Amino acid sequence: MATIEAGSPRLGRWRSTTIFIRRVSPRGEMVRRSDQAFRAATRQPRARHEAEYSQEGSDMAAAQLYDTIGATYAATRGTEPRIAARIWAALGDARTVLNVGAGTGSYEPTDCDVTAVEPSALMRAQRPSGAAPCVAGSAENLPFDDQSFDAAMAVSTIHHWQDPIAGLREMRRVARRVVVFTCNTSDLDLFWLTRDYLPEVASLKACRVLASLTELAGAIGARMEPVPIPWDCADGFFEAYWRRPEAYLNENVRRGISVWAAVGSEAEERAVHTLSNDLASGRWAERNSDLVDLDTAELGLRLLVI
Ligand SMILES: C[S@@+](CC[C@H](N)C(=O)[O-])C[C@H]1O[C@@H](n2cnc3c(N)ncnc32)[C@H](O)[C@@H]1O
Repeated sequence: MATIEAGSPRLGRWRSTTIFIRRVSPRGEMVRRSDQAFRAATRQPRARHEAEYSQEGSDMAAAQLYDTIGATYAATRGTEPRIAARIWAALGDARTVLNVGAGTGSYEPTDCDVTAVEPSALMRAQRPSGAAPCVAGSAENLPFDDQSFDAAMAVSTIHHWQDPIAGLREMRRVARRVVVFTCNTSDLDLFWLTRDYLPEVASLKACRVLASLTELAGAIGARMEPVPIPWDCADGFFEAYWRRPEAYLNENVRRGISVWAAVGSEAEERAVHTLSNDLASGRWAERNSDLVDLDTAELGLRLLVI
């Protein structure tokens, strides 16, 4: 039996652009809009649906973190146009695009037929009205046929996946081209925040995953391109405020960055306290005088392209 839920039970309102798939009937019964690619892509053989049911547990696990920390995501996170330009250029002439770990929809190209996949209900609920249709699911088990899309993209998400290689292989399975925006964390001394204030980052699982980004890219045959971060980066991810250190004293900014939740409140309080003191005393400025004149910084951000 097919059960289709559209809407946000948590926020108690219904949205037409978000589609939760609990049970998918064969041949696209859950389609609620006349989106050709979405309809074509979700026509799946029965075996695929059964595989998906058995993955329900891992989809739940993927959703958990952002169902807890994602409430204010859209307040500080959004599309940085210069990074978007790099991602869109890498997507090339793709007309149908799958956005995996899509969150609130930042970086989804507006001139393509986009389908989003996102495990967290709280994140799906924050997608703006008119955003691309969004399926509840996780990267490791994409509910789409082989080669359903021209391209698949994933932005700031692979470090959260239970099995990044499995997720990337799934992207390759469903799409002809794969574009991933992520970070190589093999040199934590690149960024003053981790080097001088938050060394705990080194022991986070997400950081360890990204420390071996070169091997990961090799395993899936991707090429890696550096992405410099503009000094006034509009997407408030962890490294975004490298030339605006005062921003890290702002609780709202920190709540939009999963690293702070991951290191725990004790490390967070200590780092913020020390940074605040160093900004007041001029110690931060003294140590980081080389940053003041830079417009962009190389902090390990990478585009993986297959
Ligand atoms: C930092 S947010 C990035 C969201 C969006 N791509 C952006 O650029 O704003 C990370 C997202 O990855 C999602 N995520 C976590 N585990 C996942 C998995 N296994 N498969 C797909 N997405 C996952 C989270 O729910 C969250 O929405």
